[in-house]
Amino acid sequence: MAKEGLSMEYDIKDINLAAQGKQRIEWADREMPVLRLIRERFAEEKPLEGVRIVACAHITTETANLARTLQAGGAESLLIASNPLSTQDDVAAALVGEYGIPVMAIKGESTETYMRHVRAALETEPDIIIDDGSDVVATMLKEKKELAKSIIGTTEETTTGIVRLKAMEKAGVMSFPAMAVNDAQTKHFFDNRYGTGQSTLDGIIRATNVLLAGKNFVVVGYGWCGKGTAMRARGMGSNVIVTEIDPIKAIEAVMDGFRVLPMSEAAKIGDFFVTVTGNRHVIDKEHFEVMKDGAIVANSGHFDLELNLEALKEMSTEVADRRPFVQEYMGKNGRSVIVLGEGRLINLAAAEGHPASVMDMSFANQALSSEYLVKNKGKLEHRVHVLPQEVDQEIAGLKLKSLGISIDTLTPEMLEYMNSWETGT
Ligand code: ADE
Repeated sequence: MAKEGLSMEYDIKDINLAAQGKQRIEWADREMPVLRLIRERFAEEKPLEGVRIVACAHITTETANLARTLQAGGAESLLIASNPLSTQDDVAAALVGEYGIPVMAIKGESTETYMRHVRAALETEPDIIIDDGSDVVATMLKEKKELAKSIIGTTEETTTGIVRLKAMEKAGVMSFPAMAVNDAQTKHFFDNRYGTGQSTLDGIIRATNVLLAGKNFVVVGYGWCGKGTAMRARGMGSNVIVTEIDPIKAIEAVMDGFRVLPMSEAAKIGDFFVTVTGNRHVIDKEHFEVMKDGAIVANSGHFDLELNLEALKEMSTEVADRRPFVQEYMGKNGRSVIVLGEGRLINLAAAEGHPASVMDMSFANQALSSEYLVKNKGKLEHRVHVLPQEVDQEIAGLKLKSLGISIDTLTPEMLEYMNSWETGT
């Protein structure tokens, strides 16, 4: 039976913000040339004609340009927030009012509202779920199993979501193909590293306006997000300390010139702490207990569970609001800890997320992954896939071209050598 058309029902803060949102979406689009090329091709070829997409993403200017691309390709999409604090309300308004794309997302929404939006999105019976953190897919598996059997597939934006998808695959509950967008090199090398690096510092600075130079800046986790954050904090003149649980990443941090310490030691000397691990309670009670008075703590990992804020609350006499996204926990030990953005990803809570130029490649991967799922409908195994390497190369090539940068190509002699084994010493 054919599905009814997607309703234009929406839940946003204020439709009157639409004009401002449109202006900002167009500004971001100037830095998204690769996505724009895909949008132009999609408009001609309509590879997503009649495909219903639920996109659970941070509702930002960059995501709006992804939504426009899906729309140009013929898809009917509904957007919902992938985090209660990351929505840009003017963008949500513009999507609804200027582009005719329904959105359910309000900055500061409660967890109940967030989940209500997830459930409402599943009610539309999407063909594709674009997810960021895997909340929609996990909810579908728990509460709407029949949809998990009929769906074309899902695409996943972030490391945390891919960890969850792989756990689903291992548990034998994955009844659809999933595209691991984060695993594309044109995604995590750039978005996770340069995007998180810049936007995390942007969030801390916008929230606090505190000087970073000369301060001890502890980066918890040295994956791609940690590498970017450490690199940029060093650029601002901080003394960067890295904590890790993986010996290989720890040596990398050492050889990149950072001091590596266990958290128990780093906790005593840090002025700033940023968690980017994807794990739970990496800053815990015993760490808060020994922090310096006024230490500033933030998270830039996907979920708000990296800081044990319940424990911190129990250790405090009072929690005082100091500025937007800045709360001071007054410790019973006479020292305070300052928490930014309620422990939610600070780059999207207090700033605007990654700049458009890196999201250009991330969302090119998202758009092409959706197209790939449709083109290969019914043919892909029910497991986690990555886009073919040539697609990654093509996205990188287009990005270089847009930046006016040319590179060399292999000569026939080089190519022959690369494919031979006879020549040696
Ligand atoms: N994740 C991090 N930054 C983002 C942005 N600007 N838009 C969408 N998702 C993001």
